[in-house]
Amino acid sequence: MVKDIRTFIDELDKLGELVRIERPVSKQFELAKVQHALDGRPVLFENIAESPGWRVVGNLVSTRDLVAKGLETKKEEIIFKLANAIENRKKNPVIDNLPSQEVVIKDPDLDALPIITHYPTDGGPYIASAVFIVKDPDYGINACFHRLMKVGKDKFTARIIEKRGTDTALQKVDGDLKAVIAIGNPIHLLIAASISPAKGVDELEIAQALGDLPLGKALTSDLPVPAYSEVILEGRITKAKDVEGPFVDLTGTIDHTREQPVVEIDMITHRKNPIWHSLLPASNEHKILMGMPREPTIYKAVKDVGVDVKNVLISPGGCSWLHGIVQIRKQSPDDPKKAIEAAFSGHKSMKHCIVVDEDINIYDPQDLEWAIATRFQASKDLYVFPNQPGSSLDPSGEHPPGEKARTDKAGVDATVPDGKDPKTFKRLVMEGVDLDEYVRK
Ligand SMILES: Cc1cc2nc3c(=O)[nH]c(=O)nc-3n(C[C@H](O)[C@H](O)[C@H](O)COP(=O)(O)O)c2cc1C
Repeated sequence: MVKDIRTFIDELDKLGELVRIERPVSKQFELAKVQHALDGRPVLFENIAESPGWRVVGNLVSTRDLVAKGLETKKEEIIFKLANAIENRKKNPVIDNLPSQEVVIKDPDLDALPIITHYPTDGGPYIASAVFIVKDPDYGINACFHRLMKVGKDKFTARIIEKRGTDTALQKVDGDLKAVIAIGNPIHLLIAASISPAKGVDELEIAQALGDLPLGKALTSDLPVPAYSEVILEGRITKAKDVEGPFVDLTGTIDHTREQPVVEIDMITHRKNPIWHSLLPASNEHKILMGMPREPTIYKAVKDVGVDVKNVLISPGGCSWLHGIVQIRKQSPDDPKKAIEAAFSGHKSMKHCIVVDEDINIYDPQDLEWAIATRFQASKDLYVFPNQPGSSLDPSGEHPPGEKARTDKAGVDATVPDGKDPKTFKRLVMEGVDLDEYVRK
């Protein structure tokens, strides 16, 4: 059976993990505020004031436990499941009579959809959960998130990062690039679309290796359409540009306003009783989707240079994007430096990388700080890489318009130093006692 967003919502409901909100909620600010206040708890809004007939789900994969449920694996296994799916992709089955095309709207009116306005500073209502599917003339299908700011009844501006899959395809075609834009996607598609694999690797096939993702055919192009997504916008990325932003991004700060491509929508299709997915910018769900899929690519890059890597974490304190923790079993004094350099190649937007030993709990920030406090000497163990290509999301970097952002990068080797007695770095654990024998009740 295909695990779509409905199946997942039902599962969470049965486990008592879903909050249902029955009273009408406005898509203008109110919904975002309630979603934020729920602090990551999955929520189903059953009554959207301005969009009758629509329900909106949010905070679906706001924790690693929820991702593990969505992918039917254990939390600790996610990184290995993703690494395996990237390596061993599967062809998607093709079917007719798609649930995602049950209702066909030929005269699109985006105002009828529950497109959410999140923050008072935002340039307009935004879709942050949309997965674009486009075809590159050389590399084939590319699936990738692009946020959309509504600028008209059938128009958006889309944030399309330069030189990545969608932008490369757009630059190659004369005129418009056809796009299928899927909203309300199965968890395995959300995760696969967040991965940035080598050019020519089809993220839909990664999704198929993570779970079942049958496809059908679009109605206005020959692009594939995910059969069980809730909503499909069929349209074109044009060469026209207009203002995109301001937008509160992953870091919780306001991203730059830019001239970005205009996307025109030609047709909307959706399931009966459709469910919209509100991906709240800067929320834990946004962070998980951005950062976690980078862990397997870092893991592989470190493994490929011959370092015995045990685990990788993109940490929430680093906005789940800018900081990576790499846990290794050090076998040679060069290993931490090799691991740092490889990790930066496995996640090109990462700014700081910390390498630790196996006895450090990478999920505990206090433990990480303990490793830095007791094992790190800046003059020997700090690697600084000035003025590198970096993340567009870091407000402290340099952001020349139309060019890749520049930033300094640093690697911290917080492993036990070589040439010193390892015993002096071991944490001693006090033997336990039964306190009832000592403390009067
Ligand atoms: C929640 C989320 C939102 C994203 N929003 C955007 C966006 O607005 N524009 C963009 O170009 N990339 C965005 N990305 C990043 C791309 O989805 C990601 O880097 C993609 O995998 C790039 O792959 P590609 O090189 O195959 O195109 C977002 C990623 C996530 C997880």
